[in-house]
Amino acid sequence: MHAANRQAWDEAAERYEGWFAEAVELISSGGTNLLPPELELIGDLHGTCRRAIHLQCAGGRDTLSLWNLGADEVIGVDFSPRMLALAERLSMAVGAPARWIEADVLDTPHELDGTADLVYTGRGALMWLQDLDAWAGVLFRLLAPGGRLVLFEGHPAEWLFDVDADGGWVATDYHYFAGPEASKGWAPEYIDRLSIGDDEQAWKFARAWTLGEIVTAILGSGLRVERLAEHPTDWWNGHADVRADERGRIPLSFSVLARRDG
Ligand SMILES: C[S@@+](CC[C@H](N)C(=O)[O-])C[C@H]1O[C@@H](n2cnc3c(N)ncnc32)[C@H](O)[C@@H]1O
Repeated sequence: MHAANRQAWDEAAERYEGWFAEAVELISSGGTNLLPPELELIGDLHGTCRRAIHLQCAGGRDTLSLWNLGADEVIGVDFSPRMLALAERLSMAVGAPARWIEADVLDTPHELDGTADLVYTGRGALMWLQDLDAWAGVLFRLLAPGGRLVLFEGHPAEWLFDVDADGGWVATDYHYFAGPEASKGWAPEYIDRLSIGDDEQAWKFARAWTLGEIVTAILGSGLRVERLAEHPTDWWNGHADVRADERGRIPLSFSVLARRDG
């Protein structure tokens, strides 16, 4: 399933290539793409973060936002070579001290073990993974003693709701406990159409891990969870058609702050 996802994401990198100029503008002007709940958890990294590692970094825009927040050096890990080529172009364009590593997140190289003051991940990352215990083990081994994990991710409950013609929430037929679903084609609010037709695209496999599964995996790795919070934040602008009076009623994202003890 990861191999199929890798091909699907390499195809989807085409859309991220179209956002390149915007990303250069954002990062070179010192901006950040991160959302308020993430900024609150990450804070000011100046003088406190020698290395931030971003897992599933895509085209590097969020990774370089960590550099703008003050990380001395940033490293992005992703399994899509086309995404990483874009990330490399972006870091070259803005002159950032960044390294890009092509690997399945579960096989993140051991040379990075114990070196991260911050491991940051999320925003459409966990749904592509099929082994959360192995993933949490990677978080633990990458962190330096005293280092922090900041996870900001789509809430699994989001999969249970869609919007009707009047902008109100309605239940989907997604089975919360069913495991991975195969699909082709991408949401119009996000990747939308690619130059390869939907039928010719690679299959991809995604799932909504439950909050219990996610937090239990992090605890099982040996990290100490300091905070778990749920947010109404529409992290991918996927629900712009929801009526104002319906907004804020359903959790659309969640965050975790965890630490590797010193
Ligand atoms: C939704 S994107 C991440 C979004 C990112 N926060 C952004 O908006 O730019 C998901 C990323 O995860 C990567 N990915 C998915 N499964 C992976 C895996 N098993 N190992 C490494 N990267 C993976 C994909 O290549 C893609 O770049």
